[in-house]
Parts: sequence; structure tokens; C-alpha cells
Amino acid sequence: MTDPTYEFTRAVTRRPAASIVNGLRAEDIGTPDLARMEDAHAHYVATLKQTGAEVIELPALEAFPDSVFVEDTALCLPKGAVLMRPGAPSRMGEVAVMAPTLDALYDELRRIEGPGHIEGGDILVTGREILVGRSDRTDAEGVAELTRIVSDWGYSLREVFTPPGVLHFKTDCSLLDGETILSTKRLDASGCFEGYRVLHTAEGEEAAANSIRFNQFVLCPAGFPRTAEMLTNHGFEVVEINNSECAKLDGGMSCLSLRF
Ligand code: GLY
Repeated sequence: MTDPTYEFTRAVTRRPAASIVNGLRAEDIGTPDLARMEDAHAHYVATLKQTGAEVIELPALEAFPDSVFVEDTALCLPKGAVLMRPGAPSRMGEVAVMAPTLDALYDELRRIEGPGHIEGGDILVTGREILVGRSDRTDAEGVAELTRIVSDWGYSLREVFTPPGVLHFKTDCSLLDGETILSTKRLDASGCFEGYRVLHTAEGEEAAANSIRFNQFVLCPAGFPRTAEMLTNHGFEVVEINNSECAKLDGGMSCLSLRF
């Protein structure tokens, strides 16, 4: 039997655009280098493909500097997909560009109409529920509208909270299997993962929390050796991907793909 939370046959990615230098960021820690980002992106895509999955690689979109972070545009579930309504005004237009790709792949494609906002980076789908973190990008109205849509498909959704100052809920956590979550201690301390098996990122390695389980691999940002070793010791097959350039824009492993 397959586990739909991490066993995927497809992913959608988008190449980074030269306009990435204008991408959103909470703090300016340097201008992202396009060539370096492209190299890391190619490694990321190759790793997804290595699992046997088909990767639909979309072209760069110069008009949308953050469009490499495709995860924020949609939620992809086995029963259907939902187009998001980003809370960042500069990212709103990315959704309409993603729509035809998902429309071709899904029988059921719904959309968040508003007035609320919600971004895919705030959504963690586990084996038992959909967790959505309210954040500066995801508000109560957005969560309520998504709740109505996914309950039609039989999913239960629980609203939780992204820690203050953290971009997205999944900046601080990721799913390792249906019942196991990799989390920072600060997010786990909120109690939102009660009942799950939780593995913590190592002290000072909080940025490793934005990883993804994709089939047999856990793709982790490179440079967090103690967290990588901990995951290996728990039996996960870790692939480290350079995230230096995406990190300048608060982006990470989950942001770079839609997986289904
Ligand atoms: N730079 C990614 C985002 O802010 O959405």
C-alpha cells in the first residue's frame, strides 16, 4: 500500500528567473546568485527524478521574482487540488499562471476565491489531517475557505499558528512519514504536534526543519550535519541540497515543488 503523504509519482517545479534578485525577504542577507541557484535547483530536480517520479519543469517567469517557490500557489491532494490566494500581493499573479498545469492533471481543481489569503507553505498534510498555520501570509478567512473545500473531500483540517517572525508554518517543520514530523523545538513547544512522533532539529540548525520526504529520500538543506546525522540514524535516506541562495529569500526544500 502506498502512503500518499510521501509517496509521489509527480512533482511540479519552476526554474528560477533572473528577477529572483528582487524576491521577497524578511531581512537582506545578500543578493541571490542566479547561477548558483540554478545549479542547486538542477540537483533538486534530479533528486526528485531519481526516485522514479515524473517532474514537470515549468519555465522561468520573469514577471514574478518568487515564482520558483511553486508550493505557495496550490495544495495538491489525492482527491483534488486547490489553487491558493497568496497573502503577498506581488505573488498573487503566480496562481493564474500555475492553474492550467494543474487543470490538465486533476479532475477536481478548486480555488480559494477570497477575501481571505492562504499560501501552500503554511500547509502540512499528515497521515491523519491537514494542519494550516496562520501567519502573516495566511489568515483566518483563508483557512476557513480551505476548510470548506477539503471537508467536501473528506479531509479534516486543523488551524494552528506559525511562530511570530517565521515566514511559513513549514519553515519550521516537515513531514517524514504519515506520523513523524521533523520540527524546530520552538514550533513543537506550541503543542501543535501532540500525538505525533516528533524529531527535533539540532540546536542552532533550525533552518534544517524545511526539508521534504519524497519517496525514499529526505531532501535536506546542506550545512546542518547534526540534523542530517540524526535523520540518518533514524533510518531516513538523506540527500543534502545546497540551499544558500533560496535561504536569502526565506525559501527552502518544500517551497520548490508541488508533490502528488
Ligand atoms: N521569498 C519567498 C516569499 O517571501 O514568499
